[in-house]
Amino acid sequence: MPSSLASHVVLFPFMAQGHTLPLLDLSKALSLQQIKVSIVTTPSNAKSIAENIANYPNINLVEISFPIVDGLPKGCENTSQLPSMEFYGPFLHATKQLQRPFEQALKTMIKSKTPPLCVISDFFLGWTLASCQALGVPRLVFHGMGVLSMAIGKSAWVHAPQQKSMSMFEPIDLPDMKLPFTLTRADLPGELIDSPNQDDPESQFLREAMEAEAKSWGVIVNSFQELEKSHIPSFESFYKNEAKAWCLGPLFLHDRMKGLEKCTNQKDSSMLTPWLNKQVAPDSVMYVSFGTQADVSDAQLDEVASGLEESGTPFIWVVRSKTWSLPSGMEEKLKGRGLIVKEWVDQRQILSHRAIGGFLSHCGWNSVLESVSAGVPILAWPMLGDQFLNARFITDGLGAALSVKRIRNTDSNEVLVSREAICEGVKELMGGQKGKSARERAEALGRVAGRAVQRGGSSHDTLNKLIDQLRAR
Ligand code: UDX
Repeated sequence: MPSSLASHVVLFPFMAQGHTLPLLDLSKALSLQQIKVSIVTTPSNAKSIAENIANYPNINLVEISFPIVDGLPKGCENTSQLPSMEFYGPFLHATKQLQRPFEQALKTMIKSKTPPLCVISDFFLGWTLASCQALGVPRLVFHGMGVLSMAIGKSAWVHAPQQKSMSMFEPIDLPDMKLPFTLTRADLPGELIDSPNQDDPESQFLREAMEAEAKSWGVIVNSFQELEKSHIPSFESFYKNEAKAWCLGPLFLHDRMKGLEKCTNQKDSSMLTPWLNKQVAPDSVMYVSFGTQADVSDAQLDEVASGLEESGTPFIWVVRSKTWSLPSGMEEKLKGRGLIVKEWVDQRQILSHRAIGGFLSHCGWNSVLESVSAGVPILAWPMLGDQFLNARFITDGLGAALSVKRIRNTDSNEVLVSREAICEGVKELMGGQKGKSARERAEALGRVAGRAVQRGGSSHDTLNKLIDQLRAR
């Protein structure tokens, strides 16, 4: 660690890939500003984080042990290791037991030559506020979501329960928000419809995290002002104190723009890049991925395979399921036209390849930002949580995406897509008039995103202002 670094920031990511990755990007952006960064994490997460930051001498890891908790499979230290989403609530609660070791680690850092300017911890780690207050260090909150979904989430927490008798598809009224589209209850994450007045442990946990957020020093947002300018005031109005939304995103672009990033998880590039290079026509390949959390059933994966086959479009498809395989006869039909990958790929690298012309996505916020930054339009298939709001924003708010037609099965209440809907959506996005206009919007937004992180750009300057204000405290 170079001794000339005058300032020090502590980051504490929540143990889920979609939450950790953007904070690692933030650590690199801070490191480029000659800030020392300590990342607090648990032993089994430390290995992949260490690989990711290997080329950054200003960033170090502080390991604290994860507790053994009744009801959680032993050794689960990341949501990606959970056997199913049913364990999500117990996992959230288990993280509270990290408080004592976190405080010990923070005390040691406070006594070091460069005491931390602040702690930036995930929204889910709301209990870190009490530790920071006790030790006199400001806490900033990190959300892996966009400003619009955070603001809607806060408003719906208050107003949605009062409109409970309404049908899922009637417009919902959020009096404190100006929305760029008509919102229905079906667009809201389930916990916002059911939780606020409930006493179950998960609702209680979320309430505590929200209360801690409202009392924190500020919020770091992985978005950029030009994208979400109109919702920032509504979002900030939910805070009781002076807390401010610091828009620093797209976080991964700070480093990309400097051309320094060397991703260590590039097992894929040897196979994917040469394949992509062979696709002569620009914007001709569909990239398909549903993120790190959503469980897609085998039957729905079969529909995706058939839809892609019928569309005739070349594709790269990242499949998380270890057990699913192509329906019989399909391999032969798809030969040479698509790649199905069952391991971690460098999504940002794929999206920035000139051959990629569309992204069939679950609309996790990171994927939305990465697609927009690469100027790639999305075919939106949201599956859980904030993804429904992200999908509405990118489609109806920004015009940089089209939606896959989804149908509710009246017997099971599941929302399903058909092969016809996938085929129709892919064809329209890749070759239709609506797809052309979504691509133009995505490309324009991509140029704005690139400017935001360069010297003089909104996110670059906001990062410097944040550091100055923390130093001046
Ligand atoms: C979760 C929530 O589901 C989402 O709603 C919230 O906005 C963020 O956290 P997740 O499923 O992790 O989303 O998706 P996303 O936000 O898109 O993040 C996935 C990240 O993993 C992206 O940065 C993506 O580039 C990366 N990734 C994923 C890879 O680099 N390679 C892969 O093979 C898979």
